[in-house]
Amino acid sequence: MIYPIVAYGDPVLRDVAQDITKEDFENLSEFVQNLFETMHNAGGIGLAAPQIGKSLRVFVVDGNGSEDQELEGFKKVFINPTMLEEFDEPWAYEEGCLSIPNIRESVKRNSKIRIRFYDENWNELEEEFGGMQARVIQHEYDHIEGVLFTDYLSPLKKRLLKGKLNNISRGKVSADYKMRFPKPPKKKRR
Ligand code: NI
Repeated sequence: MIYPIVAYGDPVLRDVAQDITKEDFENLSEFVQNLFETMHNAGGIGLAAPQIGKSLRVFVVDGNGSEDQELEGFKKVFINPTMLEEFDEPWAYEEGCLSIPNIRESVKRNSKIRIRFYDENWNELEEEFGGMQARVIQHEYDHIEGVLFTDYLSPLKKRLLKGKLNNISRGKVSADYKMRFPKPPKKKRR
């Protein structure tokens, strides 16, 4: 099932998401499958549950077919993750987000991470990632903490983007996938 992707401005993107449990999540594999389907349909390499309107600590990544060698074979599910460490040289990269179409901005992040999480079979794992893989995880992890990449921009950049971001919240944006917008369009004055 393909969900509409929640657009910038929706409060669900600002909540700190909640852990899930085996008990209250009978059909985890179906939910994970829906996340992958929604992400692939939109051409993304990462998608977090809040982006389909569910404030849960789950995200998926799939870098296959992204043309980035580092992301080849990088397909994973992160359940109830905890970021343990972000370390090593910070580096800048132009990030985008399915919830914020047509905007890409440079964001600096540490180049390595250590993260604890469960996979879709509830195996607890602790792994280290670097480079682009770390970056994708950092971006998605931010989503379950209520953080968006635009939060890292300078006050000037934020001011310059304000109009565009407001338009996205009102549905005045073109994306080639279905989205859900939080704000009604501005009424036309007559
Ligand atoms: Ni995103």
